[in-house]
Amino acid sequence: MADYSAIIVGTGSCVPERRLTNDDLSKLVDTNDEWITQRTGIKERRIAGDGETTASMGAIACRKALEAAGMQPADVDLIICGTITPEMQFPSTACFIARELGLHTTPAFDVTAACSGFIFCLDTAAAFVESGRYRNVLVVGSETLSRVTDYTDRGSCILFGDGAGAVLLQRSTDKKRGLLYSSLHADGHGWEMLYCRPGSRHPINQDLVTQRAQFMQIKGREVYKFAVQRFHELIEDAMQKCNLKAEDIKLIIPHQVNQRIIDAAIERLKLPTEKVYVNIARYGNTSSASIPIALDEAWRAGMTKPGDVLVFVAFGAGLTWANAVVRV
Ligand code: COA
Repeated sequence: MADYSAIIVGTGSCVPERRLTNDDLSKLVDTNDEWITQRTGIKERRIAGDGETTASMGAIACRKALEAAGMQPADVDLIICGTITPEMQFPSTACFIARELGLHTTPAFDVTAACSGFIFCLDTAAAFVESGRYRNVLVVGSETLSRVTDYTDRGSCILFGDGAGAVLLQRSTDKKRGLLYSSLHADGHGWEMLYCRPGSRHPINQDLVTQRAQFMQIKGREVYKFAVQRFHELIEDAMQKCNLKAEDIKLIIPHQVNQRIIDAAIERLKLPTEKVYVNIARYGNTSSASIPIALDEAWRAGMTKPGDVLVFVAFGAGLTWANAVVRV
């Protein structure tokens, strides 16, 4: 039994101003609004402008989460950032975020779990908080996926957008609240379903760029099947382990992958659609940022109140998949 609980006391998010609509995309590749809307539910996504980066958006989301909690950057004991589109290959994006927050000694590191990144970070942060090691931990998911998206590939470029979301986790002695349950999973055997090649196996060189291999590659159909199956299992697992019925859950906040994937899982589970928070039409898939952006929207709209139970589920490259049950 943990010494303490880890409670979400503030949320924040940041998305770029610039919008890329389905009609804009139809001028770049052979696609159209009707196809994209029917197959994905996405209408537009936000695209980082010049000077907007994974760290700059992450830092803004963190500042907003701190403000919401009535805290200052100096109160933060640790920063954990989930990202697959880091500021640079190194140092970590979390170090850049700490720098933008004016911090000089606060520990900061990144976690790479693709679209499951936010839940992996939340679970890691909660372990630090629950053990008593740290009191206030910023958990950030931030992505500039537009910078690794191939805008000549109609199968992938329609899906992704940029943005960041953050929560402040705080130590508490109230054991009824906080992270009630979580499970993290990974299977590297499925790496070929979605990946971005540059790295020690494929250092950046002219050949790589000629092949357009600096961009993400996805096998959309395979990911689709994987996501529907995992989504269903993760919700069932969360409900079983926490002994929850549908009426006990205030909101399910899934990784915003595809409206059809979300609908298919919810229908199979016979859950009421109003329990599921979906904002994919406005932002597309923002990978590790999607859950904290959605949480921040729901939080600020007054859709979650102290005592409410929230369920997060995510799946993505790795392969990785994860769930978390939180009592606000
Ligand atoms: N516009 C118009 N037609 C398109 C298109 C586009 N943007 N992209 C693909 N098509 C075509 C295909 O070429 C194919 O044509 P064909 O039948 O003549 O070969 C047809 O539409 C169906 O393609 P398919 O890939 O089977 O469609 P789908 O229903 O699976 O939808 C995705 C494609 C990508 C939207 C869907 O599979 C998906 O969301 N997958 C998961 C995405 C993912 O990996 N997310 C990141 C990880 S979390």
